[in-house]
Amino acid sequence: MVNPKVPRRPTLFYRPIQPSDLEILEQIHGDLFPIRYESEFFQNVVNGREIVSWAAVDRSRPNGKSDELVGFVTARIVLAKESEIADILRYDSSKSDQTLVYILTLGVVEAYRNCGIASSLIRKVIKYASSIPTCQAVYLHVISYNNPAIHLYQKMSFKCIRRLQGFYLINGQHYDSYLFVYYVNGGRSPCSPLELVTSMVGYMRSGFKTVAAKLYKNEDRKVPKWPKCKETHSLISTQNKRNLNAECGGCECV
Ligand SMILES: CC(C)(COP(=O)(O)OP(=O)(O)OC[C@H]1O[C@@H](n2cnc3c(N)ncnc32)[C@H](O)[C@@H]1OP(=O)(O)O)[C@@H](O)C(=O)NCCC(=O)NCCS
Repeated sequence: MVNPKVPRRPTLFYRPIQPSDLEILEQIHGDLFPIRYESEFFQNVVNGREIVSWAAVDRSRPNGKSDELVGFVTARIVLAKESEIADILRYDSSKSDQTLVYILTLGVVEAYRNCGIASSLIRKVIKYASSIPTCQAVYLHVISYNNPAIHLYQKMSFKCIRRLQGFYLINGQHYDSYLFVYYVNGGRSPCSPLELVTSMVGYMRSGFKTVAAKLYKNEDRKVPKWPKCKETHSLISTQNKRNLNAECGGCECV
C-alpha cells in the first residue's frame, strides 16, 4: 500500500538504535504511546543494555534528516521458564536455558506508515530470535483496540493466544490486551494431552523451585514479577520505581 503522506519514494535503511538517537527516540515514544517511559528505558535502548533494537531511517530525506528515526522496534531476551507464556511452550526440563524474545515497543511515525516498515522491523526481530538456538518464540502484548497493530501481527502469522483482562491501566482506566506469539526454531505450543500435562507439571515444578529459592534467599521484594497493570509493570528491572502516573520503565507494545 502506498502512503500518500510520504512525498517521494523513501530509501529505507535499517540499523541498530544508537546513542545519537536518544532525543528523537524519546520524542517518538511520547507521540505514539499513551504511556510515559522512564529515561532509564531510553538509556538502556540506545546503549544496548539488555535490549536489542532496530531503527528505520529514510536515506533520501533532505535537511540533514537522512539518519533520523522514522520507525523503531525494541526487544529483549527473557527466560522461557520465567515468562508468562511458559505454560504454552513445549516444556523440556533438560533445557532450563530456553529463551524467548519479547517485543517491548514498536512504532512508525505517521507519515511513513503502510510502507512496510513495521513488517520489516518485525522480520528483523524474528530473524534475530531464530538465530538464537535456545529461543523458542517471539511474543508481545497489544492493547485490544489497536486494530492496525493487531492486523499487522495477524498478517505476519503471529498467533493470538490470550486476552488479558484489564492488563493495561492508562489514566485510571483499565484496558484488555492480547498476547501474540510467533514460534521459532521448532518451538510450539504443546498439542497432545500428554504434552500439555507434562508442560504444566514442568512449569509448576520450575515455578515452585523459583519460589523456594527466593524464599530461601529472602529475595522477596514485594513487587510482583508480572503485575497485571501496565503502569506498575517493568520488564527491565524489577527494582525500578513504581510510578502510578502512567510511567513505564520498559514496557510492552500498546
Ligand atoms: C502499528 C504500526 C507499527 C504499523 O506500522 P506500519 O509501518 O504502517 O506497518 P506496515 O506498513 O508494515 O504494515 C501495516 C499493515 O497494517 C495495515 N494497517 C495499517 N493501518 C491500518 C488500519 N488503520 N487498520 C487496519 N489495518 C491497518 C496495513 O494495511 C498493512 O497491512 P496490508 O499490507 O495488509 O495492507 C503503526 O501503525 C504504528 O506505529 N502505530 C502506533 C504505535 C503502535 O500502535 N505500535 C504497536 C504497538 S503493539
